[in-house]
Amino acid sequence: MRKLVVGMICAVMLSTAATVPAVGTVSLPKGYESWEKSRQKIVEDKKSLFHGVHYIYLDKKGMKAYKGGGDYPQGSRFVVVFHNLKVEAGKQVEGKKSMIVLMQRDSERKETGGWFFAGFGPEGKPSGIDPVKNCFDCHKKDAADRQFVISTYEDFARKN
Ligand code: HEC
Repeated sequence: MRKLVVGMICAVMLSTAATVPAVGTVSLPKGYESWEKSRQKIVEDKKSLFHGVHYIYLDKKGMKAYKGGGDYPQGSRFVVVFHNLKVEAGKQVEGKKSMIVLMQRDSERKETGGWFFAGFGPEGKPSGIDPVKNCFDCHKKDAADRQFVISTYEDFARKN
């Protein structure tokens, strides 16, 4: 995922708080660390964009649709935090944070399936990637029948 992020500049940035475009004002939602959090997810395939350790967070608004189906209400937010994968004494452990991504329900964003997609560096600074090419195309391919949400609640909550 990092490779994709580096060097890509998105001309239009949107505020997460409003639907009015504003350059450079996109930011991560405050307090997302206290939302419901997925189990630890490890992707070992080095070729995968998701190589490493990640956790998905979902706010209360979106939880009903995630669990039981139905439309995601306007403003529902998912955040995914990625870490490098390290091996210590033969065990897989999470290393440094590598990047953070956001999906926020916004019906105005028709070109990206009614979601606002944004990528951030490990400190939460916007990375300025193109949300259509670098986010939506993949979500469209994998989850067009699930409102472009790829992960499932069963897998989010599964104990391993
Ligand atoms: C190559 C495919 C691919 C690309 C490109 C991609 N994603 Fe995803 N995304 C996934 C997969 C697969 C999951 C589910 C991960 C899981 O189940 O743990 C996911 C999950 C997510 C989630 C959690 C909600 C959900 O759909 O499960 C968010 C938020 C997200 N991605 C945002 C983004 C953003 C923002 C970008 C662009 C910077 C992006 N993604 C690019 C494949 C992709």
